[in-house]
Amino acid sequence: MFTSEIDAKTQIYGIIGNPVEHSMSPLIHNLAFRRLGMNAVYLPFLVQDIKGAIYGIRAFQIRGMSITIPFKTEIIKYIDEIDDTARAIGAINTIRFTEDRITGFNTDWLGVVRSIQEFLPIKDRKFVVLGAGGAARAVLFGLKKEGGNPIIVNRTPAKGEMLSREFECPFFPLNQIDDLQGDCLINTTPVGMFPDIDKSPVPGKVLSRFGFVLDIIYNPLKTKLLKEAEKRGAVAINGVKMFVYQGAEQFKAWTGKEPPVKEMENAVLKQLSIRSIKSEK
Ligand code: ATR
Repeated sequence: MFTSEIDAKTQIYGIIGNPVEHSMSPLIHNLAFRRLGMNAVYLPFLVQDIKGAIYGIRAFQIRGMSITIPFKTEIIKYIDEIDDTARAIGAINTIRFTEDRITGFNTDWLGVVRSIQEFLPIKDRKFVVLGAGGAARAVLFGLKKEGGNPIIVNRTPAKGEMLSREFECPFFPLNQIDDLQGDCLINTTPVGMFPDIDKSPVPGKVLSRFGFVLDIIYNPLKTKLLKEAEKRGAVAINGVKMFVYQGAEQFKAWTGKEPPVKEMENAVLKQLSIRSIKSEK
């Protein structure tokens, strides 16, 4: 949107996070508003004080917000209601403000399920999930809901064991990963994310025991984990589709309209390719 198109009726949407400057959400949501001819704009908000931010959302009548690191859990105590799925996951990535009420949702799990379903049916398949944070919770919820069999692997046993009880699936500490195999390995840890692109969460040899390796990281597009997976014959999938699909579900929850998903994906791929060329220079 050009600033000259902003007028007294422009609706405001945005993302709350810290940091937030590398988020691709403004790119995809503004593109969708433009394509659908909507008088709306989506802005990044760098937030220190989440409670204060919620007052601001009410006062300014902001229609919808994406929620990212580190507020996905903390925000729960400041909003009016939370849907059953977000409650079961224990994290919110989307809020909607209507008729004086702020409702929290989670679309991350839908993003990951849709993205996996494009390469592998989930039902009765075995997934090894690395990590036990908020992202892992959304992944585990989605896999269980679709009838998959996840195994949790985490560096800190206490956290992994807690998720193992909550989502009723086995847990193994990270140093036992050599004993595991499955249809798909999913990395939900931040290991390998820009700028630490020379790191991988697991030794390369482990990857030959998986047909598919999904890294929910999308920057860089090909993490060290995915490069090593390809070397060992596994199909490597990055987190771009998961990101775009969770965003598309947010857009639908706010506007009731279908966003241009393929165009959003292409815009993200283009932007990330430009970034990676710049960072190589
Ligand atoms: P998010 O909410 O984005 O999932 P998080 O709650 O900070 O982020 O969780 C990150 C996960 O990545 C954690 O499970 C963390 O392992 P610990 O439970 O042991 O802290 C995992 N993680 C982060 N850095 C890691 C590393 N260098 N090696 C292995 N696991 C790591």
